[in-house]
Amino acid sequence: MKASTITAIIAFTASAIASPVYKVAPVLRTRDAAVAAARCANAANPGICQSVVETINGWDESVNTVNDFLNRAPLLAGQDLVNLENIALQLALNEPGFLGILKSTPGISPQGLAAATTLGQVFPAVPQNLQGLVQGTVTLTDAINNINTIRCPSILPNISLLWVEAARAAGADTPGFALGPNFCPLLPANVGDGYSLDV
Ligand SMILES: *[C@@H]1O[C@H](CO)[C@@H](O)[C@H](O)[C@H]1NC(C)=O
Repeated sequence: MKASTITAIIAFTASAIASPVYKVAPVLRTRDAAVAAARCANAANPGICQSVVETINGWDESVNTVNDFLNRAPLLAGQDLVNLENIALQLALNEPGFLGILKSTPGISPQGLAAATTLGQVFPAVPQNLQGLVQGTVTLTDAINNINTIRCPSILPNISLLWVEAARAAGADTPGFALGPNFCPLLPANVGDGYSLDV
């Protein structure tokens, strides 16, 4: 198949899945990571609860950094673009560590565990494409399309589910869902952005 044909197929696939994929998030109790961590004093195991809150907060920052890359990279060139690619790659490489911590939350539900298992399978496409960009083996357009194609319908909703289920198991406040890039924003009816106050 010609490269131009493949590009057209990827572009079509990407636009076909652009419709919002998220369900409505549960009602939030707290919108601040420091407050949520403090309220872990009431949890059965405050240390585990705090670790879950901190992990979700760190993961949220990583998600938002990759979103920022997806939104702004097409507008940049030269060193600015290289810098943004490297920042996104470094943050994306943190995500398997976050995944490992939340997946091992004691008492996590089967749905939370299933989301973690799915993430372990689909997530590597993100750092692989960012790595390819940094190394010059993937074009920017292809990398962005490849990442959006897997991240919008699979990665972001499963991250959101894992956050909610890990928080529930640890007795932490319910976090908001992971935000998406402009290409697949979170539905307005949903509450987003982990424990961040910025939304
Ligand atoms: C998790 O990803 C799988 C595989 O792409 C998908 O079928 C499923 O709907 C996702 N989970 C949620 C909660 O969206």
